[in-house]
Amino acid sequence: MEIKKIGILGAGAMGGGIAHVAAQAGYDVILSDVDLAYVDRAVARMDSFLAKNVQKGKMSPEEKDAFLGRITRTTGVDAFADADFVVEAIIENLDMKKDAFARLDAVCKPQARLVTNTSSMSITQIAAATKRPAQVAGMHFFNPPPLMRLVEVIRGYYTSDETVRVVSETAVKMGKTPVEVKKDSPGFIVNRILMAQFIEAIRLLEEGVASIEDIDAAVKLGLNYPMGPFELQDYAGVDIGYHVANYFCEEFQDMRWNPPLALKALIRAGRLGKKTGAGWYDHSK
Ligand code: CAA
Repeated sequence: MEIKKIGILGAGAMGGGIAHVAAQAGYDVILSDVDLAYVDRAVARMDSFLAKNVQKGKMSPEEKDAFLGRITRTTGVDAFADADFVVEAIIENLDMKKDAFARLDAVCKPQARLVTNTSSMSITQIAAATKRPAQVAGMHFFNPPPLMRLVEVIRGYYTSDETVRVVSETAVKMGKTPVEVKKDSPGFIVNRILMAQFIEAIRLLEEGVASIEDIDAAVKLGLNYPMGPFELQDYAGVDIGYHVANYFCEEFQDMRWNPPLALKALIRAGRLGKKTGAGWYDHSK
């Protein structure tokens, strides 16, 4: 079955970014969230990036209109009934994801593939909420989806080879490089490595070995990373890293993933990163 129409559930930074990438690749996109205001905000973000492209002569006004015209805005999941492929990008809460997949399974056509953009959770557990676990996989994009080149394609226990092939081909059509994660292991590849780096950076800070600014500068200049670990936590959301650390701790039963005290303190203070105006850094100015 050719994939023509892609549904995206969740219009936050990830869902909105994935919708951008899908519309850019020429797919018809249905973008949904609990409140139409979130969807409108995501489309407004795309609009402003596209307007810059028009200004720079990278895109014609007609191309911009056609791009945005491919996106249908909605709430709930009913509009996904004729989607060939659905990407779930709601918050990282297993029960909410299972509930979303049960609802998607009930409305989507039988041959549709359902994928989750979870950054760490079990694909097998999410797929178990459906009657089509062979057609469920992980499709993990990175923030910001329009610029990041990787997509992790994750097999759940029952994911079929055909589903892995369809998801990988869809990623390629979106201009991304897919890598296959052969086992449903917490955090897959990138977040397993990234979390170890985040935790170690926070421990260096707690031990007084170096300041936030110097740790970020060291990683950027010494490893040629575009952002240091503190800068990146603020960019991606400090709370996301915190949830992933707790999830790893529980799943691996290994205290090495236990969120350091300084991270807990930040969460308790509501300093969740750029989106709240403050995280490891102050972003209010
Ligand atoms: N959508 C569309 N276009 C965008 C965009 C977006 N969200 N953000 C930027 N752009 C456009 C800009 O308008 C700009 O266009 P022009 O070239 O026409 O001017 C272009 O893209 C480049 O933008 P920037 O100059 O802002 O980009 P940069 O070179 O400073 O790079 C960055 C920004 C890609 C974020 C870079 O700093 C980077 O790679 N940082 C690290 C990001 C990272 O590690 N992400 C992974 C996070 S972890 C994760 O996602 C896993 C998880 O599960 C939580």
